[in-house]
Amino acid sequence: MALEIRDIHKRFGSVRASDGVSMTIETGSLHGILGENGAGKSTLMKILSGFYEADSGEVVLDGEVLDLRSPADAIEAGIGMLHQDPLVFLPFSVLDNFILGSPGAIGLDRPSARADLERVSTDLGFSFDPDRIVGEMTVGERQQLSITRLMWLGAKVLIFDEPTTGISATQQIQLFATLRKLASEGLIVLFVSHKLEEVAELCDSVTVIRQGKVVFGARMPVPAETLVTEMFGNVFVAQDREDVPLGDQLLRFDALSFTEGSTVVQGFGLEVAAGEVIGLAGLEGSGQRTLLRVCSGLLQPSGGAVILDGVDVSRASYRGHLDAGVHYLPAGRLEEGLVEGISITEHLVLSSESRRFFVDWGAANDAASIEIDEYSIKGQPGSPAEALSGGNQQRLLLAMIPTDVRLLLLEHPTRGLDVESADFVWTRLLDRREQGTAILFASADLDELLRYSDRIVVFFGGKVFAVRTVDETDPQELGYLIGGKERV
Ligand SMILES: Nc1ncnc2c1ncn2[C@@H]1O[C@H](COP(=O)(O)OP(=O)(O)OP(=O)(O)O)[C@@H](O)[C@H]1O
Ligand SMILES: [Mg+2]
Repeated sequence: MALEIRDIHKRFGSVRASDGVSMTIETGSLHGILGENGAGKSTLMKILSGFYEADSGEVVLDGEVLDLRSPADAIEAGIGMLHQDPLVFLPFSVLDNFILGSPGAIGLDRPSARADLERVSTDLGFSFDPDRIVGEMTVGERQQLSITRLMWLGAKVLIFDEPTTGISATQQIQLFATLRKLASEGLIVLFVSHKLEEVAELCDSVTVIRQGKVVFGARMPVPAETLVTEMFGNVFVAQDREDVPLGDQLLRFDALSFTEGSTVVQGFGLEVAAGEVIGLAGLEGSGQRTLLRVCSGLLQPSGGAVILDGVDVSRASYRGHLDAGVHYLPAGRLEEGLVEGISITEHLVLSSESRRFFVDWGAANDAASIEIDEYSIKGQPGSPAEALSGGNQQRLLLAMIPTDVRLLLLEHPTRGLDVESADFVWTRLLDRREQGTAILFASADLDELLRYSDRIVVFFGGKVFAVRTVDETDPQELGYLIGGKERV
């Protein structure tokens, strides 16, 4: 038994997202799909799972050619997919999400669905409160729910599109254990990523896709250099950060107190210079995001003050913060930053400072073409946000940052980006220091924190746990601090 992909083609306008893809994956495999941003990984997976119809080619499972015209067809045939941005109905309960959209759900009574949920999730080692609202759950928990649902629907092939994006280290360990278990029970697990370490740790075989084509396939282990060369066409070396002299004090937290959920920060003080980069470390939900929300005016502090350029902005509105030169780039791409159905040009117009009444669309398209070039976005001025690959959505968000920003607040600025794109993004961000922009960024990536920050603020359990300059700390200590321990 095997999954065979035969000569799949898929075009979007002039883009050949799948350009004659063929591969065979044996049952019981944990198979990695690697490729740079925009390589065509998600497109191929969406074809396998019935979200897109291929222009030509065949998908064969257990010797049977499948007719995949919808996700329902795919799951019927035993292929299920977890998306890069988990598609769930946020305001609904766990049980509703379990049942909704499932073939055969009509006629299924809630008590038996509840029992099924309990049984399948226990088998998988998960536990859910069926009545909990999905919007309150973490990305990791939503993933577990999606896995449970797909297993319940009889999946034999499970596709994970960048599943480690946005989950905590503990959830990642759990997820990897689940994937290994599923493969050992005879499923085919496809694991899409552009992170070599993850594929090396988890997968027993790998395929590299570049520009819509399979360029490499092998059993693991494969040397990292080989994979990098196959992904990018050359060996990529990240650039070292250049130091710029820090300016005068730009930002001051004055005995700042704020509360949100389980985050309770009391009397936090810090002075940040113009051109300084402050990394915010901590497990997801430890308070980093709340600090960014306070700094952006989305959340009012309960005490103390945020002083920007000598002015107390802590009681100003979000709009007031924008006017003061504060720009916030949140993590959830399509959820918070970009709008579905709105084109690249329209996004850039909406984010531009000049809010003229009439838009000259000819000029706006020309301006958008320049940004597309400058940020190497794979897309056209008229491409809607959802037509861009994950990495290209992130580049568009970066292109939307106005030029004269004083304080830049970023949440996971390179999440979902391949190494080359991440390096590009940081080069762009660090350029802004020369005009005196200060940067506060939250990240779950220790290398990123240590490489780009001047100082790192570590959050633990909803409190500021430690502040370190980059020179006085190292990955090991940072690991301890994030876990709430001082190094002994
Ligand atoms: N619905 C669509 N409409 C138009 N173009 C699309 C659509 N979906 C994907 N594309 C284009 O196809 C190409 C491949 O995109 P895809 O999403 O498959 O890349 P990816 O390998 O998953 O990248 P990433 O790592 O950034 O998620 C990109 O150039 C993308 O812009
Ligand atoms: Mg993708």
